[in-house]
Amino acid sequence: MSTHPTEPRHVTTAVIGAGYVGLTTAVVLAKLGYQVACGESDPAKVDRLSRGEPTIVEDGLDEILREGLDSGRLRFVQGAVTAVRDAEFVFLCVPTPQGADGAADVSFLEAVAVEIGPHLRHGAIVVNKSTVPVGSTHLVERLLERQDVAVVSNPEFLREGTAIHDALNPDRIVVGADDQAAAARVGALFASTQAPLIVTDAATAETIKYASNAFLATKLSFVNAVSNLCEAVGADVRDVLLGMAYDHRIGFDYLRPGPGWGGSCLPKDTRALVYIGEQSGYEFSLLRGAIETNESQLASITAKIRNAVGGSLEGRVIAAWGLTFKARTDDRRDSPAVDILRRLIAEGATIKAFDPTVHGPIPEFPAGVDILPDAYAVCRDAACVVVLTEWEELRWLDFAKVRDLLAEPHVVDARNLLDPAAIRRMGFSYVGVGRP
Ligand SMILES: NC(=O)c1ccc[n+]([C@@H]2O[C@H](COP(=O)([O-])OP(=O)(O)OC[C@H]3O[C@@H](n4cnc5c(N)ncnc54)[C@H](O)[C@@H]3O)[C@@H](O)[C@H]2O)c1
Repeated sequence: MSTHPTEPRHVTTAVIGAGYVGLTTAVVLAKLGYQVACGESDPAKVDRLSRGEPTIVEDGLDEILREGLDSGRLRFVQGAVTAVRDAEFVFLCVPTPQGADGAADVSFLEAVAVEIGPHLRHGAIVVNKSTVPVGSTHLVERLLERQDVAVVSNPEFLREGTAIHDALNPDRIVVGADDQAAAARVGALFASTQAPLIVTDAATAETIKYASNAFLATKLSFVNAVSNLCEAVGADVRDVLLGMAYDHRIGFDYLRPGPGWGGSCLPKDTRALVYIGEQSGYEFSLLRGAIETNESQLASITAKIRNAVGGSLEGRVIAAWGLTFKARTDDRRDSPAVDILRRLIAEGATIKAFDPTVHGPIPEFPAGVDILPDAYAVCRDAACVVVLTEWEELRWLDFAKVRDLLAEPHVVDARNLLDPAAIRRMGFSYVGVGRP
């Protein structure tokens, strides 16, 4: 581990992909003082971002985007080629979704490497921020067909919801490449963040990202398993976890039970790592166990809702609060909320859902889910209300009003967001996760 001083200089960068990672990287590079051309294939995103209109929900994005555009350091352009022409550093932030066999699908990365190869400036450094299987840095090197261009792996660890803060204040910067000088130059771009810098080889950097996500997923599955144990023995998981978390070796982060983990990273990255192990002759049974525990957790929340309404969901109306995979983001990719609602629909329920970031119908539910713009409206005549995303504002609703709107006063709180005693005092039945 080492740190590098920053030379205050004018550096040209390109960011390919203006999604959660690319947009965050672009605005943060501009904030750090670099020139940034962000190339995005979706023209609607380019238009909106060029006007200073955020395309995702993210704390602080509005201001930092506007600041970047006003400074003249940040611009959005259509496509990768236009963005890379003058860039010394080219950050690849394209999707790597789960493929049919569990492996990460690197076709976006391959396509962009082939596309930009001939257009890169002499001596450019290509930096891959997408989460990719071990060996992808070398794959990009081959596809670029450029002897003068180095490729560096620089995995991204931001959390959606606090992405800007995380990218400006990273816990660490990881850079991996055969060309250690190129890796160190990429690390030096972020020297002003004061984050520890780990310079390593490409395979190690790629593995660090998957191992980190696999650890977080395992921690969450462990917590959910403990919550089930608490239910079995009559303990309160919240106090159990509090008692554990003060131990510095365990810590407070990622120690909340819930409906199961989801989002755009943990599900696909855990499966991809199991696959990587398989391909290399290692059976990662611990991680397989974490994935299976997660599946059971989704089923267990579904069972709680079924039980709350008397044992059958057939023909029942369920009010759902939350659709995103966690609060403070609009991201619904692999959201446990969406998964659970699908299970309820498969058992014959009708859903009325509210989420502060969702306005109108969504592609996940072409039919069978009525999305309404306020938390009370979904409760009218429903047999039960279910908290699926931990939106803070849900805590402060008028629960007397909620009770009067519901056909039956049942609450299933898959996030342990509400105070069970207060809710029960108001005449509700209340079921949480791992607590009486
Ligand atoms: N979302 C997260 O929290 C997070 C955190 C760490 C790492 N990652 C990883 O970062 C990568 C990107 O994730 P994301 O969530 O930002 O994805 P995303 O789907 O939000 O964004 C990807 C963007 O790339 C654009 N794109 C695709 N091909 C392109 C091309 N050829 N030229 C220009 N633009 C192109 C897409 O239109 C899209 O806007 C993935 O590998 C992911 O695993 C994501």
